[in-house]
Parts: sequence; structure tokens; C-alpha cells
Amino acid sequence: ALVLLSLLYQVQGSSNSERHTGLSNYTFPEDFIFGVATAAFQIEGGWNKGGKGENIWDTYLHKHPNFTLDHSNGDVAADSYHKYKEDITMIQSLGVKYYRLSISWTRLLPNGTDNYINEDGMKYYRHILEGLRKVGITPMVTLFHWDLPTPFMDLGGWTNPVMVNYFEDYARVAFNLYGDIVNIWTTMNEPHQHCANGYGFVNFVPALNAHGIGEYLCTHYMLLAHAKVYHLYDRYFRPSQNGKIGITLDSFAGEPKNASNPNDHVAVENYLQMHLGLYANPIFSSSGDYPRYVRDTIDHMSQIQGFTRSRLPFFTEQEIVMLKGSSDFFGLNHYTTYKITNCERNENWQIPSMDHDNGICMSQPSNWPKPGASWLAVHPPGFRKIINWIKKNYGDVPIIVTENGLCDDGSLEDFERVSYFNEYLYQLLLAVNIDKCNVRGYFAWTLMDDFEWGDGYVTKFGLYHVDFDSPHRTRTPKLSAINYGQIVRTRQIDF
Ligand code: NOJ
Repeated sequence: ALVLLSLLYQVQGSSNSERHTGLSNYTFPEDFIFGVATAAFQIEGGWNKGGKGENIWDTYLHKHPNFTLDHSNGDVAADSYHKYKEDITMIQSLGVKYYRLSISWTRLLPNGTDNYINEDGMKYYRHILEGLRKVGITPMVTLFHWDLPTPFMDLGGWTNPVMVNYFEDYARVAFNLYGDIVNIWTTMNEPHQHCANGYGFVNFVPALNAHGIGEYLCTHYMLLAHAKVYHLYDRYFRPSQNGKIGITLDSFAGEPKNASNPNDHVAVENYLQMHLGLYANPIFSSSGDYPRYVRDTIDHMSQIQGFTRSRLPFFTEQEIVMLKGSSDFFGLNHYTTYKITNCERNENWQIPSMDHDNGICMSQPSNWPKPGASWLAVHPPGFRKIINWIKKNYGDVPIIVTENGLCDDGSLEDFERVSYFNEYLYQLLLAVNIDKCNVRGYFAWTLMDDFEWGDGYVTKFGLYHVDFDSPHRTRTPKLSAINYGQIVRTRQIDF
């Protein structure tokens, strides 16, 4: 039935190609990397299996079952703790040659610290990585995808500079254990989302709600931890392991709410500096520091509040040297676009936040399709824009799209996801072939339906459907899996 549906869809969709102008063919370069991505907490389950320690998502969700939309948690998730072999077969059937996964810090180091390495965890990732290699799939491993060891939360998590050292200890263990078989690493996944939603507000764990302060402290020490680990790898592991290491940053695209209003164009630029430049500038610009605009804005807003010192910490000269250039590639997660305009700072100005400091408001037009979560509206041209923004600001650094995808209600005939991937990949091709942006690879988010953080299992991003009602967590390919497989194999988008 899926094949028939897919044929039908191709017939229906063929008229779409008339809308696509600018490219003579839709072919990806020979050496372009196609992959698929997941994250440990979202798929593994096995929260207390094999000696794994608790991370902040385990602990918080057990204590606050109402945190997620469906009152669920990650205890079993897609059960990849047991089903990783099947996962590998699925990745193989997609035809992709790369798989981005993350290590659960507390599966490897149950207390978070390197004084005890958990043998079961050590073997678990060894088996996955070897299993991947055996079938010709290159792993790309993320060290931190939001599941901080719970004991570190007692220290204030990423607001505490000691985390820089703990992260380095953890990374050293990972490089020692797996550096022979892993040669692409990412340190952090989306520090912006983690810090803004987890430390600034309550949308993600640890739900600190310390807006205007928590997110900047978290940002500061995550960046330093990243840079520290980059240099650890560069100096002690790269000579023998010869791999690449970078960071994954997230960014929505921005468009002026009113295109004829010059202020809205400035607002877009300010928005991108605050949300992406805050993280990217210290690493990818020649300044090695926060963007000038961001520095001045937060300093100024802190002053208005009556503080004589800024809420945004400062890097030392030495730290700037360490940060500058500390990534071999620019990992980009991109999903959607927002319309941006200036906003009056309201009477709550005493309670700042990133957007409040920035004085911007974000919205999405009601005619942009939104088949899943309220934040994810489909607007493919934004993808090309954000890629170009990165090129404009940071030059020719190789970009790897480490995540891109769409959520919906989870049906197997996921036409909207099929068209999302087609349209977004088309915009990526325009960025590569026309704008000459240095995009080297693309990872679809995500292999299968999984635990979508605050949305629990309600919001589905998978190329494969997972039956969460069955203890077997049965996996079934959706139409989008077939379609993505075809793109990967032919290196062409077949509208
Ligand atoms: C980015 C995050 O890295 C990932 O964990 C999440 O599931 C997707 N966005 C979709 O929201």
C-alpha cells in the first residue's frame, strides 16, 4: 500500500516542480553526506537498566509527571536500549551512510564523574558503534544532548563553572573509549534551546525559570565547556584519532514582519544575533567573543534594571583565545521561521529574558502550515536564508545540517513530512548550488517517533512509526522513510 501511495503522491506532486525555478537539476554533490539523527534520552529508555545513573530528565519527570503533555516520561521511550540492532537495520534501509546519535552521560558515568565507568554502558555504545561500522555507517556522536547527570544539578548545573571541568572529564572518557571507531564528534546539542528553555524558563528541564540570568550563565559555561573539550580533542586525541569535532547550534530563520519597514529588518538582524550570534560568534567569528550588539544590549538592559554590572558574564582574554575557531564545522539544527518585529518592552521589564532584553516580538502567519507542534510552521525559504546568514557572518566554515524535520500526528501516510523534506532539501540545494554555501551534509530528524521533551509522545517526528502502545515498540516505515531513502540513493529530489 505504501508503494502505491508513494506513486500516487508522486503523480500528485509532479506539478509542484513547476514552482521550482533556479536549478537545472535537483542533484546533490557526489560527496554530500546524508544521515539521520536521534538522541539518547529520546529513544533509549532503559532508564535504570544495566547500572545507568539518573539524569535530570529522569529525576524531574518522576517527580513532576504532569510536566509532559501526556504525563509520560523517558523510562522506556522507543526502547532502543534493547532494540538498537533493529535501529541499525532501519538506518541501513534508509540508505544513509551516517547516523548521528548521542551518548547518555549517566549510562557511561552513572554519577556523572569519571571516578566510575559503568561497564554495561560502555559495552552498549561499543555494540552500537561496531554494529554501525560493520554495515558501513559512520557514526557522528553528540556528547551532550540535554540529559545532564542529576548530581550536577545539585551544583546548579550549567550555571556553575565547575561543569567545564566535569564535561572535560566525561569527554576524555568518551574519546578514550570510542575514539578508535568514532571520528566525528559534536560537543553540545542546541545550547540555546537548552539554556533558554531549561534555565531561563520552564519549558524544558531543569525548568529553573531564572530568566534573564540563568540562560546567560548556562550559555557562558556551556560555551567554555565546549571550547575546552575541542582543545582536549585537538591536542591529545586528534593526532592519533584524526577526527573532526564541532558544535551543534539551532536557529530559526527570521523575516521582517513588515518587509517595507526598515526597523523590522534591523529587528531580524538583532533577533539572529541574540539567538544564534550569542553562541556562534565566540566560536566562529574572528572576535572570539559575544556579538557587539548582544554585549551592548544586555549590558544596557542590566543597567536600566539598576545593576552596575552586566547579567551577561565576560570572557577573559585567555578564554577568547580558547573559544575562537574551536569547531571544525558548524552544526546547524533548523526547523522553522518566525516573522520578527520590534516590541515595546512591557511593564514586566524587571523580569528580563533574552527576547525581552532584545526588545523583539516573534510570530508566524496563520497561513503557514502547522501539522504538529505550535512552534513548527512550514516555511522552506527560511532554510536557505539562515544558511546564507551563517555564510555572511562566519565565512566559509563547513556547515553540516545536524537536524531538520517536521512533526505531525504520526500517520503512516505522512504526505506533509514528505513534502517538507522535499521542499527544505530543495532550498538547501539552492543554497549550495546557487549561493555557493559550504553545506557538506544533512541529517534528517528523526529516525523514529520518540520522546519529544515537553510534548511527550504526542508530537511525532519519526521517519519510522513506533507503536508506543505495544511493549514491543514495533517500528514501521512511513511514506517519508521511503521518500527520504529515494533521495539519498538517487541524490535527487523527485517532486
Ligand atoms: C531539536 C532537538 O535537538 C531535538 O532533541 C528535538 O527533538 C527536535 N529539535 C524537535 O523539537
